[in-house]
Amino acid sequence: MSTALPINHKRLSVRDIGARKGGAPIVCITSYSAPMAKLMDDHVDVLLVGDSIGMVLYGLENTLAVSVDMMVNHGAAVVRGSQTSCVIVDMPFGSYQGSPEAAFDAAAHIMSETGCAGVKLEGGCVMAETIEFLVSRGVPVMGHVGMTPQSANVFGGYKTQGKSDEDARLLLEDAKAVADSGAFSMVIEQTMEPVARKITEEVLIPTIGIGASPACDGQIIVAEDILGIFQDFTPKFVKRYAELGAVISDAVQTYADEVRARTFPSPRHLYGVKKG
Ligand code: KIV
Repeated sequence: MSTALPINHKRLSVRDIGARKGGAPIVCITSYSAPMAKLMDDHVDVLLVGDSIGMVLYGLENTLAVSVDMMVNHGAAVVRGSQTSCVIVDMPFGSYQGSPEAAFDAAAHIMSETGCAGVKLEGGCVMAETIEFLVSRGVPVMGHVGMTPQSANVFGGYKTQGKSDEDARLLLEDAKAVADSGAFSMVIEQTMEPVARKITEEVLIPTIGIGASPACDGQIIVAEDILGIFQDFTPKFVKRYAELGAVISDAVQTYADEVRARTFPSPRHLYGVKKG
């Protein structure tokens, strides 16, 4: 289904985000649905429809089975639910690694069907040619370096990156390649703090940290992690700002108790019955 959305000039653009290098921190958070986008829109700069959706919403073990169709459906919902944030949609595993042309087809499909401002893809030097190909054809790209979950099988798990001097050097090279190829910003995930700090100092585009460094130009986090809704595992970089999991559980328990006691629905929730 094509959303055929007009360009919304109230939204932050990728250029606005790119211009924040060294300025006010860029606040980013994941969002997968219209109601959550609506709740968070006023408070953040970027809503990322991340492929973490696979684990957080679909109960998958990792992000590898996430499809372009999933990203399109949820990306369109987030665009519909928001007014001012810059919405970026993740390119799922297998949709961009094969060739720059395949990446363009997938990215163009995601952008035209969702109305998002750009896409995010994982990888450093190896993705430089693809990023350049996309950007030169009208697809804004947010890069993603450090611990890139789509490559967890290669890393041997979700391992913190940049631990040795050689790894730190390669990571800096990756980040520079992403910046030089025209990305408007890049996520740095689960990386040794001094390495993330050095990357932030050396690249000319904003860095968005997650388990990286407070020196990054912005931060991103999975909303369900900080709200206490996703509780399967909690990475060290997550801070809990609310315990909505417990709130939901209590509310549903109260509903169940009232249904079983026949105290819900009460007259005020019924039609054709006078309130007592
Ligand atoms: O998929 C995702 O949610 C992400 C962020 C955590 C950066 O890539």
